[in-house]
Amino acid sequence: MYTYLTGYTFYTLIEIPLVTMDDYEIYPKQKIPTGKPLIRELALKVANDPRLHALIRASDKYLDAIGYTEHGFRHTRLVAKRARELALTLGHTKRIAERAFLAGLTHDVGNFLGRHMHGISSATLVYPILVDHGIEYDDITTILMAVANHEEEVGVIVDETGACLVIADKTDVHRSRVRYPDPTTQDIHDRVNIATKSCSLTADPVERLIKTEVIIDTAIASVMEYFEIFTSRMVMVRKSSRLLGCRFKLIINDTELS
Ligand SMILES: [Fe+2]
Ligand SMILES: [Fe+2]
Repeated sequence: MYTYLTGYTFYTLIEIPLVTMDDYEIYPKQKIPTGKPLIRELALKVANDPRLHALIRASDKYLDAIGYTEHGFRHTRLVAKRARELALTLGHTKRIAERAFLAGLTHDVGNFLGRHMHGISSATLVYPILVDHGIEYDDITTILMAVANHEEEVGVIVDETGACLVIADKTDVHRSRVRYPDPTTQDIHDRVNIATKSCSLTADPVERLIKTEVIIDTAIASVMEYFEIFTSRMVMVRKSSRLLGCRFKLIINDTELS
């Protein structure tokens, strides 16, 4: 310790020893669990949480009011189921499959706050629900990252959970999603959905191939119209397939397009 006299003021300078990161246990060497690992039973408990159901109902109601297709229990359950199946089929762990399942169930719940950036609002709304169920934080962050990034305008696919969610979500095109079906409608989204008789999703773990087969009634909408609204989505699906180590093949009315 040194003491200096400068004018009328005393300053005391204390020698501070050099501190290294090793002096602190900032990053523990062993991973400390921050909750329960995500297993099937836990994922199903979240799926049956009434708060989640209320969010899905509100979002579907809002999207009905602004003229969008169905985004309720049918869509979210289908996406959750397909995302989980896709992860398992391609040989990922059960834990990743349950992450993809919960990402599928929750990805659209923020729509009732506005369509814009609804991935981020969905993730924000779902966070306390996942915390309340005591899920481990590594699972929670992975699910929220997938949810926040599922829209093609802003989304970045970082890992398998996000990739499975995007593929399951973007391939849910079907006439049953149109609320007020009118084949003569001028709305291109409605017309393409009404025209879609089926849209299957399959994965071959040996060939490393993800395939979507779409059957369109071309009397209602043309293949060109399909591409007009779905090109950016299919680009995102292709990127997601690549992250999963697979090729992506799109077949429309028996014609291979990619
Ligand atoms: Fe969405
Ligand atoms: Fe969706």
